Amino acid sequence: MYELPIWVTDKLMGIKGNLKLNYAEISRNYRQQQYKELDKTQVLAYAIGRMPATYSVINYVIQKFLKRYKLFSNVLDIGSGCGSLAIALLDKNVIYTALEKSTHMIDMFKFLLGENIKVFQQDIYSFYDKKRYDAVFVSYFINEMKDKESVLKKIFDLSYRYVFIIEPGTPAGYSNIISAKKIAKEKGFYSVLPCSTEICPLKYKDWCHFSIRVQRNKIHMNIKGGSLPYEDEKFSYVIFSKNNLDKLSHNTIIKKPIRKSGHSIFDVCTQNGIQRLIISNKNIKQKLYWGDEINLIKWNA
Ligand SMILES: C[S@@+](CC[C@H](N)C(=O)[O-])C[C@H]1O[C@@H](n2cnc3c(N)ncnc32)[C@H](O)[C@@H]1O
Repeated sequence: MYELPIWVTDKLMGIKGNLKLNYAEISRNYRQQQYKELDKTQVLAYAIGRMPATYSVINYVIQKFLKRYKLFSNVLDIGSGCGSLAIALLDKNVIYTALEKSTHMIDMFKFLLGENIKVFQQDIYSFYDKKRYDAVFVSYFINEMKDKESVLKKIFDLSYRYVFIIEPGTPAGYSNIISAKKIAKEKGFYSVLPCSTEICPLKYKDWCHFSIRVQRNKIHMNIKGGSLPYEDEKFSYVIFSKNNLDKLSHNTIIKKPIRKSGHSIFDVCTQNGIQRLIISNKNIKQKLYWGDEINLIKWNA
């Protein structure tokens, strides 16, 4: 449903390199939170090994957004990598601009998407643009920044309407989402998805994250050395809007539902904190998943 289009994998399959070794190295660096600029073969390993998951998460977040709001008209994708967001928006009527400092990432981006997409080859720390964008998008980026606060401030300053932030679904990624919420408030933005709470009710006792299943193809399985034909990608995200009217009340399932034989248990984030709902399975017409919105009025009645 959210999978990377097959033409991307087909294009990547044609390139040679010692991918298994390179993927193991970048994966170890990510786990140890050592973010180094990737060389040419590492970028290919990233595109094959990580892009199916980052693309699926981005696509999921865009789909969630589209359930509620009209698509933005232009977007700045900061730390675009090899173009996951650009691919997700290919069939949409959006003016897309990338900001990326790595030459190898840009080369891969252009190999996949052609030369016609506007890319600023620049470092976010020295980037200046007097233009303001309808949406500014960052995925798997804040976690790599040394000075997260100044980068977050710059991101909000570049947007006149929406800011999208996706992070790994770890306590550290969640902590970056919480920092973004604080800066959003200073900059006059409101959290609109997956929640409209100003202060997260989890308060670090737990971390808000979601999960989607990503299918692995043969080459993907090969470089990761795994035997399962899928992986579960955990992520945290938040979307902000400058428009108060976008701030609708959301009640989102924030944990994997516990399904018992006669009933299901849902932990739901609401404006009034976390609420546990126990619903008889015979009353659930359409299956509800982790990350879905839930109609509290209906189920509390
Ligand atoms: C983990 S990748 C994420 C790529 C893409 N957003 C995705 O979700 O697949 C992070 C990207 O940010 C870029 N990056 C890191 N530091 C940067 C900086 N200071 N300025 C601009 N880009 C940067 C890296 O080169 C890399 O392409």
